[in-house]
Amino acid sequence: MQTHVNKNVDTFKAIMGSYPTGVTIITTEDAEGNPAGLTANSFVSVSIDPLLVLFCVDAKAGSLHAFKKAGRFAVHILAVDQNEVCWRFASREPNKFDDVEWSWSKRRLPVLPESLGLMECKTAQVVEAGDHTIFIGEVVHIEKTDKEPLLYFRRKVGSIPDSWFA
Ligand SMILES: Cc1cc2nc3c(=O)[nH]c(=O)nc-3n(C[C@H](O)[C@H](O)[C@H](O)COP(=O)(O)O)c2cc1C
Repeated sequence: MQTHVNKNVDTFKAIMGSYPTGVTIITTEDAEGNPAGLTANSFVSVSIDPLLVLFCVDAKAGSLHAFKKAGRFAVHILAVDQNEVCWRFASREPNKFDDVEWSWSKRRLPVLPESLGLMECKTAQVVEAGDHTIFIGEVVHIEKTDKEPLLYFRRKVGSIPDSWFA
């Protein structure tokens, strides 16, 4: 029975690892007034009217409590040249913001410059789902640049192949 369950988990991970996505860094303010955030590829759009997005946070993530407490978050859709910051925010490093450029936005959310897109959101719903928490947010501020996206596939990040643009 256990073997059967493990096989399903392994196959699930293998399939999801082969499902290419973009990459985001999602930030918020923690209870002490410090910036918090993590790299996430669980980000998806949900609704146009109103503008809703969602992302999922692992119960083990250090930033989970901050997202629950703050009631707001900023989504950075990463650009192809943000490889370094992608891995930094995917680490357990406690001072992730120390060596990166960032600033507080008008809505007091930590904002990283140079991403492809920025969406500042007000948390609309929090749903517990298995070992993750789903955060649904209403987009209250949005910005876009003309950069190309960073992609995630089989534990690697990269760019859209040139052939795509041919
Ligand atoms: C490409 C990529 C996507 C990720 N997506 C998620 C995600 O959607 N949700 C999540 O909880 N962790 C995700 N992670 C893992 C977190 O970024 C990682 O566990 C991080 O250390 C959590 O930081 P924290 O403990 O400071 O919150 C992802 C990691 C990578 C490299």
